[in-house]
Amino acid sequence: MGKEASNKNVFASKVGAILAAAGSAVGLGNVWRFPTETGTNGGAAFILIYILFMLLLAMPIMVAEFAIGRHGGRDVTHAFEKMSGGRRGWRWMGLMPVVSGFLVLSYYAVVAGWTLYYTYEALIDGFSGKTPETFTNDFVTFSSDSLMPVFWMALVIVLTCGIVALGVQRGIERGAKIMMPLLFLFILVLVGCSLSLPDAGKGLTFLFKPDFSKVTSSVILNAMGQAFFSLSVGLGCLCTYACYFRKDIDLMKDGFSVAAIDTLVALLSGLIIFPAVYSIQGLQPDAGPSLVFITLPNVFQQVFGNLPWLAYLFSLIFYLLLVMAALTSSISMLEMSAAYFHTNLRIPRPLAAVLVSVVCMLLGTFCSWSFGDWKDVTLFGMGLFDLFDFLVAKLIMPVGGFLMCIFLGWVVDEKVLRAELTNHGTIKSPLYPVYRFIIRYFAPLCIFLIFANELGLFNLWK
Ligand code: PFF
Repeated sequence: MGKEASNKNVFASKVGAILAAAGSAVGLGNVWRFPTETGTNGGAAFILIYILFMLLLAMPIMVAEFAIGRHGGRDVTHAFEKMSGGRRGWRWMGLMPVVSGFLVLSYYAVVAGWTLYYTYEALIDGFSGKTPETFTNDFVTFSSDSLMPVFWMALVIVLTCGIVALGVQRGIERGAKIMMPLLFLFILVLVGCSLSLPDAGKGLTFLFKPDFSKVTSSVILNAMGQAFFSLSVGLGCLCTYACYFRKDIDLMKDGFSVAAIDTLVALLSGLIIFPAVYSIQGLQPDAGPSLVFITLPNVFQQVFGNLPWLAYLFSLIFYLLLVMAALTSSISMLEMSAAYFHTNLRIPRPLAAVLVSVVCMLLGTFCSWSFGDWKDVTLFGMGLFDLFDFLVAKLIMPVGGFLMCIFLGWVVDEKVLRAELTNHGTIKSPLYPVYRFIIRYFAPLCIFLIFANELGLFNLWK
């Protein structure tokens, strides 16, 4: 084993690094948020815009995060300072992942907790014999309870904390290497089952036949938010992981693999969910966040009504898939903040992970209560859960992405960027000039226009 690979703060293998980054990217954002957003934003046209944003904005920004993180090596604050040529003022950018880590994990763990509870329910065959009304009532009762969802949310954070505490190689990398292949296997099994359902074709039409009359400015902002959220970019999360990248990783090529895996999983999730929804008359794809917690378990029971064991298996595999997807992402969220306390403040890794976890559990409890006891507690017209989601996906991610572009395109010495993307001239990167153009001009301008339009600063389109 080389010196680099034996260093515990480095991913031991290239595959491990790619899977860890893909693990962060592939999560509830793909299996829960993507179908929800697709359903409520009109289907195929939204998907097309999303894919465009993925290619032209999210992926280049991901590569930017990779370059900054790997160049710095030690931790994110140091990485920004080093990449800027030693200007200490840029260290503050490195604090972004620390703060965002708390915000994003706190509300993400609530939904992850729901999925863990639904896995448990599936395991004990708790869905069988339920009517559509019971599914709705049970979900509302569960999610608005003041204790149960908090318990499951806390359990998710404890599991996440355990893995992060084990370290980069033994925890994060090993976790990704086990969970990601399983996740793929589960997805393929479910896609096969879903496509064989009656009326699956209607679901495919919804997914793949665009209707551009449905495109509004908020559909565009939502598509951008979804692309950023799905690829985990803009918060500095992948920057944190890239600090652990080996020098032989091809940032552009391997970055493309991560983005491709992420997009594929989102589309495959659509292929699981929409044919299933359309297989039962009267169900709508725009059911919103409850799609996978009310509509789907109901579908599984109704469709496989006369083959109960298949309904059991289908539900169990589906929720296990959700839990694993959620865990590989929540690990990266916790790591963002914990890494800072561990490397900068020299707190032992397990203790740093526990400290961040405790704060997230507290914030997560408040987010969970915004579905019940705290329903009327609002800030800017939003409950706490919605506020955190808004802050992360629609504000910090685009603004963070914009700042990364400005930093990499205008502050960093071009030679440093080129060296990082070509591994010091050892690999060919024919797309480098295109990449630099995107990061310097196209991406920041695009983010600015979409953002300003949505804020009403001017009206390019409605
Ligand atoms: N990309 C993850 C998902 O699709 O579920 C969510 C996520 C992970 C967002 C890490 C932000 C982040 F820093």
